[in-house]
Amino acid sequence: MNVLKRCIYGFSILSLALLTIECKGSQKDEKQENTTQKKNNVSIEKKEYGTTPAGQKVDIYTLKNQKGMEVNIMTYGGIITSLKVPNKAGVSEEVAIGFNNLEQYTKPNPYFGALIGRFGNRIAKGKFTLDGKEYQLATNNGKNALHGGPEGFHRRIWTAEEAKGGDVATLKLKYISKDMEEGYPGHLTVFVTYTLKNDNSLDVLYEATTDKKTVLNLTQHSYFNLSGDFSKPILNDEITIDADKLVPVDADLIPTGKLMDVTNTPFDFRKPKVIGKDIEAKDDQIKKGLGYDHCWVLNNQDKGERFAASAYNPTSGRLLEVFTDQPGIQFYSGNFLDGTLPMRNGGTYAHRTGLCLETQHYPDSPNQKDFPTTVLNPGENYKTKTTFKFSVK
Ligand code: GLA
Repeated sequence: MNVLKRCIYGFSILSLALLTIECKGSQKDEKQENTTQKKNNVSIEKKEYGTTPAGQKVDIYTLKNQKGMEVNIMTYGGIITSLKVPNKAGVSEEVAIGFNNLEQYTKPNPYFGALIGRFGNRIAKGKFTLDGKEYQLATNNGKNALHGGPEGFHRRIWTAEEAKGGDVATLKLKYISKDMEEGYPGHLTVFVTYTLKNDNSLDVLYEATTDKKTVLNLTQHSYFNLSGDFSKPILNDEITIDADKLVPVDADLIPTGKLMDVTNTPFDFRKPKVIGKDIEAKDDQIKKGLGYDHCWVLNNQDKGERFAASAYNPTSGRLLEVFTDQPGIQFYSGNFLDGTLPMRNGGTYAHRTGLCLETQHYPDSPNQKDFPTTVLNPGENYKTKTTFKFSVK
């Protein structure tokens, strides 16, 4: 009996000791986890930004990571109002064109930082036919429809849901577009999720569903100036575009319907090339675009999200790489910037002081039978992702 008692007593002491050791171990793990979480923590903060002339309240969210990247996004137009990233000396500076107040954004402007929908780029004469029925869209670019129309998604209030988890911060925006809004059929529910990560990348995930057959081509219209100095043109930046072909356009920037090989043209960016090199070339397409304002046919269209294009500013050392699952990318060299719109701290945005890399389907796809389809059917999930990744070299 005594032997048995001693045995039980001994066993209990041993178990207690083991338990204490284990507990200490897990406490240590927890501590370690907390420190890592703190180190990798990406924050998101909400503030009231203002009220539109129509009386709608607008909030602004600041997403910050531990690597010096900070992005401000407002619920009006899902607009990126500010994007700061470090240069090669580690100094974070503004690299996206923007205004310093809401009122300026509500006045006409060329889609600075905005979400574009329902249809990025141009639709000829603002018309297209689906199942034999012709739709007339709101036109806003001569006789054509551009970037979703005069009251496109860039001027709508989105509802927002924020989330933070370890080393990512996400802002999920939602907008419900009514049937026939700006002339587009179908009651459309759209989500755009911005995710800031600790590798200095910003993911933009677009999702949508419709209750009627429609067309859809969402994109993001930020203007980058990687030098961090908005008084400087973007002409010294090196551009790379992984595309063998281009979508050539007519004088109204409407596709001709054929694709053009970029070999031996100013549009060959398969190896890095300085924007200024050929932007004034005596070339029919350059003339029509007033510089670069074209959609490139990206390679590897069956590969899902892959490298599409990059911009590199040798002075600041900033490199922006764009990854997407989309078939095309519009590279626009800010040709319509004309020194009339105010910069944040005085001065105005002059000709070619910002560049856009808008991932998308080809322009006028609803009227071009040989282009990849932009039709969205009820029951289908529209889902596409683009990543803007910043680094230095
Ligand atoms: C797009 C178009 C350009 C121009 C800008 C906004 O990128 O392709 O032609 O309309 O938007 O000014």
